[in-house]
Amino acid sequence: MERIKIKESVRIIRKKGICYLLGSNGKVKKYKPWLGDLFAFLYERIMQKSVFPKKFNASIDKHYNILKKEFENIHNTRIIEFATGSGDAVKYLHNDNVYGGIDISAGLLRIAKKRFDNFLFLDSELFVADVCDTPFEDNFFDIAFCNLSLNFFEDFDGFISEIYRILQPDGMFFCSVPVPERKTTKAIIHGNLYTSEDLKERFERQGFRFEPLPYDNGALFYFKSRRI
Ligand SMILES: C[S@@+](CC[C@H](N)C(=O)[O-])C[C@H]1O[C@@H](n2cnc3c(N)ncnc32)[C@H](O)[C@@H]1O
Repeated sequence: MERIKIKESVRIIRKKGICYLLGSNGKVKKYKPWLGDLFAFLYERIMQKSVFPKKFNASIDKHYNILKKEFENIHNTRIIEFATGSGDAVKYLHNDNVYGGIDISAGLLRIAKKRFDNFLFLDSELFVADVCDTPFEDNFFDIAFCNLSLNFFEDFDGFISEIYRILQPDGMFFCSVPVPERKTTKAIIHGNLYTSEDLKERFERQGFRFEPLPYDNGALFYFKSRRI
């Protein structure tokens, strides 16, 4: 299987196995830190003890079981994850896939890198980059996914058009995201919460077929969107 293809115009450098994009001035591109960056080393604990039970009113075990089920038959496929975080994907992806992961947080990607190396992925590359401006060639990936992150992206429509650009025709995007109509706690969920109806409308407008998935897990909504 082909290695991950980068656009010819993009220059990258690798430091400790992580890819950094270079700007036109030859310097490493910098990104506004994500609000959880400072607590990168506590990320998993915070998700388990606080975010899932207190903000989402959801079960983290159920979440991973859903992801395991959705990815159980995916082998030897080119996969891109938007917002890799600390590399939880090793819990549910098979390591015979070609995996590209991007995130603006170098701190979280350093944690992810160790996990991907231990998991003996056939081929995996991690990139410090914004989901709306990725370094990949057009139509390269078969599958894209994004978990628990879409609400943090500032340019949501720009993100959808980037998914469209790097997925193959008929490629599939999978997503889990909190939606306001399923939220039952008073706790604040940061970022922009889009309703499932709004998500459908935006994906369809940009050339995707939208398929809500029938899972029930607190504030979380699971869907697939196929590139037409
Ligand atoms: C709640 S974490 C989820 C991480 C991972 N997907 C998971 O399920 O554990 C949100 C992630 O979104 C990333 N993020 C936020 N805005 C981003 C952007 N514009 N481009 C890339 N990553 C972004 C953060 O750095 C963080 O890793």
